[in-house]
Amino acid sequence: MQEHKVALVTGGAQRVGATLCRHLHAAGYNVLIHYRQSAEAASKLAKELNTIRPGSAHGIPADLLKIKDIDRLIKAALQPWQRLDLVVNNASSFYPTKVGETKEDEWNDLIGSNMKAPFFIAQYAAKELAKQQGCIINIVDIHAEKPLQEHSVYCAAKAGLAMLTRSLAVELAPNIRVNGIAPGAILWPANEPSEENKQKIISEIPLQRLGEPIDIAKTVLFLARDTRYITGQIIAVDGGRSL
Ligand SMILES: NC(=O)c1ccc[n+]([C@@H]2O[C@H](COP(=O)([O-])OP(=O)(O)OC[C@H]3O[C@@H](n4cnc5c(N)ncnc54)[C@H](OP(=O)(O)O)[C@@H]3O)[C@@H](O)[C@H]2O)c1
Repeated sequence: MQEHKVALVTGGAQRVGATLCRHLHAAGYNVLIHYRQSAEAASKLAKELNTIRPGSAHGIPADLLKIKDIDRLIKAALQPWQRLDLVVNNASSFYPTKVGETKEDEWNDLIGSNMKAPFFIAQYAAKELAKQQGCIINIVDIHAEKPLQEHSVYCAAKAGLAMLTRSLAVELAPNIRVNGIAPGAILWPANEPSEENKQKIISEIPLQRLGEPIDIAKTVLFLARDTRYITGQIIAVDGGRSL
């Protein structure tokens, strides 16, 4: 029987994460769909993938702000197939934190989901990933480099994630490669900008359109499957917006 590689995608139940799960699954990975609140979407997605290939997808809940949950998440991830080849740190919280109005809880949430959790996921998963010559892919943001107005905590968290990508690439080599993808505008956030602001954002993108989740998914697969000699790099998938 063919043994499938196993990918864990955090925040995998919907939006970009769900496309990552579908694309990795179509490429032959078994997938672990991590979720926090989106239990129904995770279960629907697992069902969809299991219809295509029985026993190939599972949902796993965890609040990534809790280190105990991260420990449990990695243990649960190993249960079905006793292996882990790829972790995609995709889960993220995103909202403005205007100076003068920001609460400590918001700081902890943004730094926790975008920076702290990927570090502890790497810590708990490293031993198993190393056995498979595995990969970690961090979903960063072009705003790790270029500030986004009134989002300083989010930008700092993603900047921290960018540095973690490079420093973990050094520390976890030679058995684990660690890379990042910095999306530009792919899907509008839940708190959508006005039509006028959307047009302004699109006009600043050299390719003059939003990207699509599949653009991120194809880059994940490229880094995980198609290359063996790239580590510590962050690829912007942004239609040229960061130029
Ligand atoms: N969308 C874009 O255009 C864009 C642009 C630049 C960068 N990015 C990056 O690309 C990635 C995907 O973007 P997206 O817009 O698809 O993300 P999203 O919908 O905003 O968030 C993805 C998931 O993260 C999970 N999450 C948030 N906080 C969590 C926590 N404390 N514990 C566990 N899970 C948590 C949520 O899972 P549940 O729903 O299960 O609670 C959520 O569905 C993110 O890393 C984002 O920063 C996206």
